[in-house]
This record gives sequence, C-alpha cells and structure tokens, in this order.
Amino acid sequence: MAVNIAAANQVLVGTKEHNIRRATLDDLVSLSAIENSTSAYPCSNQQLYDCIENIYVLLGNSKPLGFAVIVTVENQAELHNIAIDPEQQGKGLGSQFLKALVVGLPTTVEQFYLEVRVSNFRAIRLYQQLGFNKIAERKDYYRNGLGREDAIIMAKQCNQ
Ligand SMILES: CC(C)(COP(=O)(O)OP(=O)(O)OC[C@H]1O[C@@H](n2cnc3c(N)ncnc32)[C@H](O)[C@@H]1OP(=O)(O)O)[C@@H](O)C(=O)NCCC(=O)NCCS
Repeated sequence: MAVNIAAANQVLVGTKEHNIRRATLDDLVSLSAIENSTSAYPCSNQQLYDCIENIYVLLGNSKPLGFAVIVTVENQAELHNIAIDPEQQGKGLGSQFLKALVVGLPTTVEQFYLEVRVSNFRAIRLYQQLGFNKIAERKDYYRNGLGREDAIIMAKQCNQ
C-alpha cells in the first residue's frame, strides 16, 4: 500500500512550486546527499536503494528538497525517516511535507508510528504539532558517539 500522491499534493497549498512524488533510482544521488548532510549516522546508498519503493520526494521547482520513508502494512504505517535539505530547513517545508503524507495515507491506516532520538527536539516538536504523541521509550536504542541514546516512540491515530 502506498501513499496517495494526488491527495498528498492537494495539501501543499501556498507552496505551489512544491510537489511530492515517489522516488526513482535517478533520485539516489540527491537523496544520499540530503541524508548525508542531515544525519550523523546516515543510511548507506545501498539502504536507500533497498527501500526506494517506500521513499517519497519533496520537490521544489523540480529539485529534491527532502524525502521521507514510509512503510505501510495493513492498518499501520511507520515513518522510518524524514529529512529536509539543511538550506531549506526552518521554512515550514518539513511540516507541510509530513502533513501532506499523512493525508495521502491509505484510508485503511489507523495508526501511524515513528521513532525519534530523545535529543532531536526539532523533529519531536514537528511531530507533536502534527498530532503525534509519545507512547513509549526505548532505552539506549541509538548509537551516540561513544555512548547510547534513548528512542521515543510516537504514534498518531488516523481516520478519526
Ligand atoms: C526535522 C526536519 C525534517 C524538520 O523540517 P523543517 O523543514 O526544518 O521543519 P519546519 O520548518 O516545517 O518546522 C517544523 C517545526 O520544527 C521546529 N523547528 C524548525 N526549525 C527549528 C529550529 N531552527 N529550532 C527549533 N525548532 C525548529 C519548529 O517546532 C517548527 O514549528 P514552528 O514553525 O511552529 O516553530 C528537519 O529539521 C530535518 O531534516 N532534520 C534532520 C533529519 C531529522 O532529524 N529527521 C528526523 C528523523 S526522526
């Protein structure tokens, strides 16, 4: 099951030069550049390649500005990653992008889950604004330098 791109694009109001589409293999270089510039522990090119069918690309004037990885199985969806090009962050794009992807989720999806580092305040705030609530923690889940860092698991009810 995939995100309904047409429905998602309808949400990008006020950002007419922006749109969303599914990723293709031609996007790998751009996606990898965004991933490497936004994560201390980036996915490899091979990992991006392996999940290409679950990647959605946010375009600005046809150029990739960000991407999200969403896996949907039956009544559950999970956000595996979302990243916006550092030069484009703080302009509301991440928020618009995720809001649009939520609207485009298959109507059968009831819960939307994600996991985030406890230190990633910016992402956590974005998720809270879009209606995600913390439902659990995973102690020492992520690598963080020489130490470990907790994960917060958040969920949003869909179709309410
Ligand atoms: C998280 C991310 C996708 C947000 O995208 P963005 O386009 O910068 O976010 P937006 O501009 O839509 O802002 C959404 C909210 O994020 C928060 N935010 C944005 N810029 C911020 C900043 N400089 N400082 C603190 N919070 C900030 C705010 O709460 C903002 O809401 P507000 O406009 O009401 O204040 C982006 O920062 C990113 O790519 N981060 C690196 C990758 C990452 O951590 N992904 C999450 C993995 S779980």
